[in-house]
Amino acid sequence: MRDSFDRSIDYVRIAVTDRCNLRCFYCMPAKGIPHEPRAHLLSYEEIIRLLKVLGQLGFQKVRFTGGEPFLRKDFIKLLESTAEIEAYKSIHITSNGTLLQKHIPKLKQLGITKINLSIDSLDKERFHKITRRDDFDKVMQTFHLLVDNGFKIKLNAVIMKGINTQDIIPLAELAKDNPVDVRFIEEMPFNGGYKKNIEMYSARDIETDLKGHYPNLEKLPKKHGDTASLLSVPDYKGNIGVIAAFSRTFCNTCNRLRISSKGDIKSCLYDDGVFNIRDYMRAGVSDEQLAGKFLEIVRLKPKDGFEAEKMRKAPAAALQSMSSIGG
Ligand code: GTP
Ligand code: 5AD
Ligand code: SF4
Repeated sequence: MRDSFDRSIDYVRIAVTDRCNLRCFYCMPAKGIPHEPRAHLLSYEEIIRLLKVLGQLGFQKVRFTGGEPFLRKDFIKLLESTAEIEAYKSIHITSNGTLLQKHIPKLKQLGITKINLSIDSLDKERFHKITRRDDFDKVMQTFHLLVDNGFKIKLNAVIMKGINTQDIIPLAELAKDNPVDVRFIEEMPFNGGYKKNIEMYSARDIETDLKGHYPNLEKLPKKHGDTASLLSVPDYKGNIGVIAAFSRTFCNTCNRLRISSKGDIKSCLYDDGVFNIRDYMRAGVSDEQLAGKFLEIVRLKPKDGFEAEKMRKAPAAALQSMSSIGG
């Protein structure tokens, strides 16, 4: 599937729940966000149907996000059924790592090995302050278990001025002995209205810190659809990535479509939802009609995140929490 800027769109991100057991302050207020009632969420059958239709349209990669995807009761069943759809060469999960330990054998059995984990600090107290929960030890234990079990892990750390810039180098050092990508992310304004003004610590600031510490840092070539600029330190087992999520410098190679837990399709992270596919399905449309709708949505995908922002109907979209968008 190609959009009108000749980008190949073959990666779908599905948020399976808007619930989360952490309260990261760059994502939501301390009291959390109001949850959608169960009936408003896409059902297991609806998600599988969408994945099959997208698979027929050439989609090859799926990432399940949330909220925290492992909070959803039928998530493992969803993974089992997705693994049976031939179109998907790879199934990915983005998780906060607090609930997945017991599922490691099942994930291995299903061949699902690509997991992105959020860890914003290696300091237990700072982790607690950022996530508003005391789960640091559990998350680190999960990280090491996953690495020991051969999973391909990417670590995500949102970097915030005055909060955790001092964590950049200690986190990057995890790539020394572990074959993982440690990625630093610019903060975006999707926090459920918790913070209005973000003092940006930009991708460039992060790279300056990294170059200061690692004089022989090398730039690696980008792969299809990568958000992160990847860097490597000679002899380190893993790589270091910087994601210019707010500066939006990678839109020209964007390959993704998002579906929120209640079925809102976003053709860009910065739009405010271009179509509700749940209501369309529930109105009784055929698979051909669904496919036609996806073609139309992809054709209208905006050039970049700045265009998407301009086209928003409601400026309040900026107040959305990342837990309902899915990252
Ligand atoms: P890969 O599938 O491995 O490329 O991972 P990813 O970086 O797409 O996914 P992940 O869920 O780990 O997200 C990491 C960070 O990148 C999060 O903060 C996301 O919100 C951000 N991100 C992911 N996709 C986009 C995008 O299309 N645009 C922008 N601006 N940020 C994105
Ligand atoms: N800005 C940037 N990244 C964010 N994430 C959540 N909220 C924000 C935000 N406001 C990241 C988390 C998670 C990923 C899916 O999105 O770190 O790893
Ligand atoms: Fe939960 Fe992820 Fe949001 Fe943190 S960023 S509160 S882990 S959904």
